[in-house]
Amino acid sequence: MDDNQVLIFDTTLRDGEQVPGCKLNTPQKIEIAQQLELLGVDVIEAGFPISSPGDFKSVIEISKNVQNAIICGLSRGVKKDIEVAAEALQYAKRPRIHTGIGTSDHHIKFKFKSNRERILEWAAEAVAHAKNLVEDVEFYAEDAGRTDNEYLARVCEAAIKAGATVLNIPDTTGYCLPDEYGAKIKYLVDNVRGIENVIISAHCHNDLGLATANAISAVMNGARQVECTVNGIGERAGNTSLEEVAMIIKQHPRLNVFNRINSKLLNPISRLVAERMGMMVQPNKAIVGSNAFAHSSGIHQDGVIKNRETYEIIDPVDVGVNESMIVLTARSGRAALAYRSHKLGYTLTKLELDKVYDVFLDYADRKKEVVDEDIHQIIDDAKIGHKL
Ligand code: KIV
Ligand code: ZN
Repeated sequence: MDDNQVLIFDTTLRDGEQVPGCKLNTPQKIEIAQQLELLGVDVIEAGFPISSPGDFKSVIEISKNVQNAIICGLSRGVKKDIEVAAEALQYAKRPRIHTGIGTSDHHIKFKFKSNRERILEWAAEAVAHAKNLVEDVEFYAEDAGRTDNEYLARVCEAAIKAGATVLNIPDTTGYCLPDEYGAKIKYLVDNVRGIENVIISAHCHNDLGLATANAISAVMNGARQVECTVNGIGERAGNTSLEEVAMIIKQHPRLNVFNRINSKLLNPISRLVAERMGMMVQPNKAIVGSNAFAHSSGIHQDGVIKNRETYEIIDPVDVGVNESMIVLTARSGRAALAYRSHKLGYTLTKLELDKVYDVFLDYADRKKEVVDEDIHQIIDDAKIGHKL
């Protein structure tokens, strides 16, 4: 693998599907997995096989229906879980078991009622057991975000010794600040023996709205895999959003990294996931929200009409949106009205534009948005304008 490549690990079908009410059936999961493969994701986390017969079946079917991407199955650091994950992955061309344990003092004390030394041994045993069943084993240190760095480094070293190929450092509760999470990754890079032989993975949650910033900070400090979901869906406030990571990497050459995502498919897959999960995308969501390329104030509209890049840092075509949208509202100016009228086939002289602009403002004050039918009506009523 190229040192500058960031692998995209999609967990829409596992962590993403943990959203209440967003259950998918097996055919829907296969459909999404196939689209994820076309999108160019490197790893698809297909499910948590021991969690239910349905998830077990989905991991089997996805394994059969995906050709190139690594298929990953989650398991707790429990023998039976790991074995069931391996069984579900038996048809995968490139299987990966993702196993691990909570490493923060909070998890150790309250969840496991254990101690650091025992958890360290447990982590190594889980990885070793998975390694007997598949070659590719990813270890997660749950709640790594709140785990003491020195101890985390020891656990990671033990996981590497036991055969882990990837180390996942989750900020499970979405608590870390970007500089703190980046420093944690750097600490591991500098202090874990054998780390140069494994991939460090960032897995961030969005409880403080920092999931994407934290994932990018991790990349800047040596992580070469980012775990994310389409539309940023996931438990509570969600996970790192795949489309945001893909586009940040693409738009910022200064990061000096790349990924294999075909960005033109980002909007189509966003719509597919939203529809199948019955979970709409907030309109102002970066990259895939319906307003991500919509301009509604007069100053912005005039700027964009003169030159798109005045207010856009991404060409909408690059992410699968046909064109930017000029939304006509009471904040729109004459430039926007002339622009939209022209798109509808009318050429208006300056005088004609002045005349219809007042009527337009009247419509706009009454309605939230002036739509194409309104423009036709206004121009018809004014008996002006020449059809092109
Ligand atoms: O957030 C988390 O810690 C997880 C792990 C199970 C990987 O999803
Ligand atoms: Zn998670």
